[in-house]
This record gives sequence, C-alpha cells and structure tokens, in this order.
Amino acid sequence: MPPKILVVGAGGREHALVRALKRSAAAPELLCAPGNPGIAADARLLPVAVDDVAALADAAQGERCDLVVVGPEAPLVAGLADELAQRAIAVFGPSRAAAQLEGSKQYAKQVMEAAGVATARWCAVDDVEAGMAAIESYPVVLKFDGLAAGKGVVIAADEDEARAALAGFLVQRRFGPGRVVVEECLLGEELSLLALCDGVRALPMAPAQDYKRIFDADQGPNTGGMGSYSPVPGVGPEQLAELAVRVHGPIVDLLRRRGTPFQGVLYAGIMLTSDGPKVLEYNVRFGDPETQAVLPRLRSDALEVLSAAARPGGLESVELDFADDWAVTLVLASAGYPGAPRTGDVITGLDDVPDAIEVTHAGTRRRDDGAIVTAGGRVLNVTALAATPARARDAAYAAAQRINFAGRQLRSDIALRAVERTGE
Ligand code: AMP
Ligand code: GLY
Repeated sequence: MPPKILVVGAGGREHALVRALKRSAAAPELLCAPGNPGIAADARLLPVAVDDVAALADAAQGERCDLVVVGPEAPLVAGLADELAQRAIAVFGPSRAAAQLEGSKQYAKQVMEAAGVATARWCAVDDVEAGMAAIESYPVVLKFDGLAAGKGVVIAADEDEARAALAGFLVQRRFGPGRVVVEECLLGEELSLLALCDGVRALPMAPAQDYKRIFDADQGPNTGGMGSYSPVPGVGPEQLAELAVRVHGPIVDLLRRRGTPFQGVLYAGIMLTSDGPKVLEYNVRFGDPETQAVLPRLRSDALEVLSAAARPGGLESVELDFADDWAVTLVLASAGYPGAPRTGDVITGLDDVPDAIEVTHAGTRRRDDGAIVTAGGRVLNVTALAATPARARDAAYAAAQRINFAGRQLRSDIALRAVERTGE
C-alpha cells in the first residue's frame, strides 16, 4: 500500500507541497484539507477547515494517514501537532508550545535573546503613550504581538504614522487584544532561509528572496508576498551553513533543552546588515511564496525528508539536494489586495500555460458552471525554472501574461535584482 499523506491548507504553498510530494518515488496517496480547485487535480480534497483542529485530527485518523504535513501557522498555534501526536499520527509541524515562536512576537524576541541570536533592539508596550516613549528614532518598526496574517507589521516614518499605527493595534484593536513590540528598524537586504528541523538539528534548505510590498520598487503596503526567487546571489553553501548555525541552530538547541523541541520547518526572515545577519522574525511553517520557488528545485525525495523531520532526530543521515537551476515565482493578486480583495472575477488562460511552468492555485474557486474565479487576495502563482535568472524570469512573465482576470495585480520587477547581480 502506498503511504497516505494529508496536507493541511488551501494556498499556493500547500499546492507546491502537494506537487513536491507527488514527485516522491513512494507514489503516495495524497489528500488535502480543504485544498482548492488547483490542488484538486493533484490530491483528493477533504472538506475540513484549517482552523478546526479536532475535525482535522479526526479526518487524519479516519483516513489512517501515515503523515500529516501542516501548511499554515494557525492550526499549529492552535495545537494540531499536539492533537495528532496524542493519536500517534506522524506530523510535520511543531507543537503548540514551539509554534509560539510565530504566535507571539514578544516570545520570539525573548527566545532570540536567551539563545543568543542577533536581532533588532526592542521592547513590548501595552499603550500608545508607552509606545511613543519607547521610540528612539525613525523609521521605527511596530509589530502586533499575535497572528495577523502578515499584516501586523508597520514601518512608521514619523511620529504621526507611529501614533496612528499604535492606536490601530492598541485602541482600535485591528487584530484583537494584544501588546505591541517596538523595534529598531534594520537596514540591508532581506533573505528567507528555511530549515528542516527534527527537534535536534536544523538542515538549511535553499535560500530565497521574497518581495513583500504590493508595488514595484518595494512601494506600497506590505503583503503576504508578491513573488520570490531561489537561490540568492552571494549566498553560497558556506554562508548558508554559517547562517543556519547562527540563526536556526541556537533556537533548536534552546527549545530542546526547554522540553519543547522544534520539529517541522523553521523559517527565519533575516536582514543582512552591515553589522552582520540579524533575525527579523521566525515563522514555524513554510513561507508563501518562497516555498513555490524552493520546492521545485528540491531533488531529494520530499516525502522522505519531511517524514524524517517528523521523527525525533530523524534528519541525522539526511542530506538535502537542490538543482542548480534558478526558480522565479510570480504572484497574481486580485484587485484591492492587500486591503479587501475583490472576488468572483473569471480567470482565463490557465490552459494556455506551457507544461514546463508550474502554476499553483491560492485564492481560486470553481463556480457551479465550471469556471475558475478569484476567491482571495493572492490568486495564483507562476513558477519557472531555468539555468539563469534571466531565463527563468522571462519564462515566468511570459506564462503569467497568458493568465488574466479583471483587476489582476502583478509586480513587474520580481527577480530583477538576481538578474542584475549575476549578469545572467
Ligand atoms: P515580520 O512579519 O516580522 O517578518 O515583518 C514583516 C516585514 O517587515 C519583514 O519581512 C521586513 O520586511 C519588515 N521588518 C520587520 N522587522 C523589521 C526591522 N526590525 N527592520 C526593518 N524591517 C523590518
Ligand atoms: N512570504 C512571507 C511569509 O510566508 O510569511
């Protein structure tokens, strides 16, 4: 019997995970809860919401799944991995306790300090005046201390913006009750470095660059991510190993010593400052859209390595192998994103994309008449692989231009930096 794997989630990241697992030599049977119309072509969908921990665990148990791979942070923070472990079902993803690294910015900063990981200077505040008093200089970074779907960080340029952001978090309570972390603004180039963790060690994956802002030239508000590429010029194998030792290793060591071992993927958002690498944040799950660029380059068997990470100490003899190719991922977003996205726009051209291009679905829905329509902020991802960044970039943009819907937003400068850096 082939192994049965349940992927939890409904976005482009989960679609990329399903595709990677589908390439496994073990030919697994793939399930996804709740999935989307794109994932439906690669896995059997289970109609269970990502935030219904009990129903997800029931589904995994009822289906006799051999492994559950959890995509988003919310079910992890809500304790899905603990629930599955209790039922003796293998899970790729950290416990509720370890997931606090993403669930609370304040906890993450405290752990970084205790583990000796370099990060921006910070303090936590409960009210607007305390926040204003804590600001040393502008721009300043203000972070809501809880889950906010990637929208809880404001970089305030002056007093007015800072006051408005603090009031939004602490008075209007945009994301519910919670404190605010006031943080020094770091300058430099950003890097996303994901590492597979088995509770004992951290194995770095290929580095990726994410584009956070909605508009070209990094203008406009922050989004979940508008595009990505992998690898990153200047971050070779040696620097990668050193970064993992500095930013992932100490966290895995500390959490193991504290009795809350970290298993799953530890994603570090790193700023390469003139003063060395500093961690901006940790996420306890695969990045979206970094995963869509990183996983297509993975040559190791995805099922083997994720299963190994799900066993305590299981990564001991595992080595990750990535193709030399460059991957460029573009995000097609709907009108209005990252504010309230417009939905229900008909998507055309999906069948006109060449087979070599990986199109993953994020916010899509199949209408009763069969049409695929927009159903969220980030709608589709288009990933191309090629021997040079320029070729991957050209192929991704050519494919993306074939896909259309009213109000489509697409940045035009994704991976341009990689092309300029490498001259290839
Ligand atoms: P976070 O959710 O903490 O990753 O923050 C979202 C984005 O805000 C990051 O990817 C950075 O682009 C930016 N950011 C967060 N913290 C800082 C900081 N201390 N200095 C500069 N930029 C930051
Ligand atoms: N791309 C940023 C994130 O996944 O949080």
